[in-house]
Amino acid sequence: MLSWEDYSEDATLNPLTAAEAPTILEEPSALKAQPEPLPQEQIEPAPIAAATIETAAQLAIPAEKESYQRVTVDQKAMINCRADLNQLVPFKYDWAWQKYLDGCANHWMPQEVNMTADIALWKSEDGLSADERTIVKRNLGFFSTADSLVANNLVLAIYRLITNPECRQYILRQAFEEAIHTHAYQYCIESLGMDEGEIFNMYHEVPCVADKAFWALKYTNELSDPSFTTGTLETDKALLKNLIAYYCVLEGIFFYCGFTQILSMGRRNKMTGTAEQFQYILRDESMHVNFGIDVINQIKLENPRLWDEQMQSLAREMILDGTRLEVAYARDTMPRGVLGMNANMMEEYLQFIANRRMAQIGLSEPFQGAKNPFPWMSEIMDLKKEKNFFETRVTEYQTGGALSWE
Ligand SMILES: [Fe+2]
Ligand SMILES: [Fe+2]
Repeated sequence: MLSWEDYSEDATLNPLTAAEAPTILEEPSALKAQPEPLPQEQIEPAPIAAATIETAAQLAIPAEKESYQRVTVDQKAMINCRADLNQLVPFKYDWAWQKYLDGCANHWMPQEVNMTADIALWKSEDGLSADERTIVKRNLGFFSTADSLVANNLVLAIYRLITNPECRQYILRQAFEEAIHTHAYQYCIESLGMDEGEIFNMYHEVPCVADKAFWALKYTNELSDPSFTTGTLETDKALLKNLIAYYCVLEGIFFYCGFTQILSMGRRNKMTGTAEQFQYILRDESMHVNFGIDVINQIKLENPRLWDEQMQSLAREMILDGTRLEVAYARDTMPRGVLGMNANMMEEYLQFIANRRMAQIGLSEPFQGAKNPFPWMSEIMDLKKEKNFFETRVTEYQTGGALSWE
């Protein structure tokens, strides 16, 4: 069970924690590119049907074996890479592989969280105020579809355009985590006996929820056409826009009002099971954002022509737009002060977060002097505490996952 005493009220948030700071890039190391040669029979070209040639080219799989040379680190690139993407090693981006390992080490499932107290509180007549009940419902309404949006964007838009196998390995892990998050929200909604039609349709029916979802969806639609490919200034920028929309805005800003509200509830010993689910999710999301920001910065580094004045001002506008939508969500979900917070405090928090997102991708901070009114949120996100938090669960997974032949 979650203990809220672990988190200090006085914790301060470093605007760029070690975990969130863009990763320092490593120079390709000659040492990493020395695999043993394959036996000759393993490198014989297999016949490939002509119909697959175009698709294969998009995936950087040679339609016909053109040479028998090794893939080297130098050939690897974040986008528009021509090296064979089926070959994971040699790594170029060690940070991506490390994030994959860290994500796997934090594995959890929604059914592990005890929801008994939440069910009793939700069903009692006077356990929660009307404003608190609205917060629970709105957030389950928003998040139950938002994580599906993220998963679909990863699978239908981003995955095939990020041409690096170790990053794809992390994207596959992230996609599964998004499925777990959607599962967690569905599990809360079902456990609490909510009207599923009402909650899942907030995505269509409640303006402050729908506005956020459809803001992001247009970026998926731009890339999800199977004939879309990168390789021109315009299409490479479209991919960069999508990454900024999802990692900096949807996962980096749109989640923060709801997370703060539900976690504040948990700190007040209300809806502690739901809050525990959100806490696991927030830890995963914090890593998703860090990964996405590293990818964005790596693409900028490898393709400096993409990060021109026009792209920078577009990125800035997208983050400001997202902040406006999230502030509207805060005002809608908190018409009055509730849970020790109000919409004005949330607005400052969102400005603080927006400053951080801008800085992380190399843009100047638009909200001078914005402070963090909820320093306890940074404690919850602090990955250094992760080991204790997950200690028992990680052990359980290692035991449960081991095969026994007896
Ligand atoms: Fe998620
Ligand atoms: Fe995520």
